[in-house]
Amino acid sequence: MRTFFVTGGAGFIGAAFVHLILREFSDVRVINFDALTYAGNLDNLSGLDSDRHTFVRGDIRDPMAVKESMPMDVDAVVNFAAESHVDRSIESAHDFVTTNVVGTQVLLDAARGTRARKFCHISTDEVMGSLSDGSEEVFTEDSPFAPNSPYAASKAAAEHLVRAAHHTFGLHTLITRCGNNYGPRQFPEKLIPLAITNALQDREVPVYGDGRNVRDWIYVHDHCRAVLQVIERAPAGETYNIGARNEQRNIEVVESILKALNKPSSLIKFVTDRPGHDRRYSIDPGKIEKLGWLPRAGWSEGLEKTIDWYIKNPQWLARVRTGEYLDYYERQYGERASQK
Ligand code: NAD
Ligand code: DAU
Repeated sequence: MRTFFVTGGAGFIGAAFVHLILREFSDVRVINFDALTYAGNLDNLSGLDSDRHTFVRGDIRDPMAVKESMPMDVDAVVNFAAESHVDRSIESAHDFVTTNVVGTQVLLDAARGTRARKFCHISTDEVMGSLSDGSEEVFTEDSPFAPNSPYAASKAAAEHLVRAAHHTFGLHTLITRCGNNYGPRQFPEKLIPLAITNALQDREVPVYGDGRNVRDWIYVHDHCRAVLQVIERAPAGETYNIGARNEQRNIEVVESILKALNKPSSLIKFVTDRPGHDRRYSIDPGKIEKLGWLPRAGWSEGLEKTIDWYIKNPQWLARVRTGEYLDYYERQYGERASQK
């Protein structure tokens, strides 16, 4: 039996990854280590094969907690745990630095101490900054770092620490940098789930600035399959950009969602722009494609599946909106994460 130590596995992408590997591999067991912040939701893990899945509530900033939970010789540490929302990092960067930077170093130290075979760190295209509008520029693995938000800066710092652990200590590290994910179970603070869930309730959908910022969207399951491919096939020390060649302007994304839901475009509300708002991201996925990975979900199909999931799971949304999903943590652990 192989063991994967997955951090942040109660979040949006981490949970999708845990579902994927337990479904795809009958010889894998998962230790899912997650602090259950506002973004961690145990509802995201319902339906998992409990024999091969162990959930541990723990904080990656806590070296003792990590050491106690990471067995010797795990086959892979996969680090999804992070503060992930750019707007929150603009309000306060503190947790972004402690979790994304310090927490990553704690995990690297633990991985060395327990002789983990591989360490896969989930990074983001945002470490490479912003591309100019309407240009042919793309992010490659060799693009220089130019993080613009506190979130992106914390993720860039973490990448440096991962790189150093490989160079200095020979740890078998891997880094993936993906673009914007969308799909089921994404916390409704991010553009797509916010637009879908607001529109479903006939609430306004806020669009920052002129709405012409471009993001490179990928269906979450395709991102998870790419991470798996990197863990299984990539040489140590390598970095891979992950994208589905799918650039969309924000306003087009919101209009597509409203159209699919048969809602009027009068729900769109242009609001004050995000400070330092990156204009455009575009990923060259050539390197990961050479590793034998291709996305499976087209944009319209992925968006349709996502919208359908939110329509069919009103109880998930209600528990998130009311904060009910956090009640369990309070009962179980005696403390409550804050949504704000
Ligand atoms: P998310 O915010 O939905 O989930 C983050 C998870 O990490 C939550 O379960 C949370 O409880 C956990 N966590 C936070 N702080 C922790 C700590 N100190 N210790 C242990 N667990 C902690 O995030 P997501 O969107 O699923 O993103 C997952 C990873 O992928 C992040 O590293 C993010 O930077 C990266 N990423 C995200 C996207 C995207 O579009 N969402 C794109 C590229 C890369
Ligand atoms: O590119 C990868 C990154 O994508 C990840 O590393 C981050 O974790 C993830 O949060 C995401 O960052 P963005 O800032 O691009 O995602 P967000 O959904 O917050 O915003 C997408 C775009 O939509 C962005 O240009 C800002 C805009 N936006 C966002 C919100 C929440 C709006 O116009 N209105 C909104 O209400």
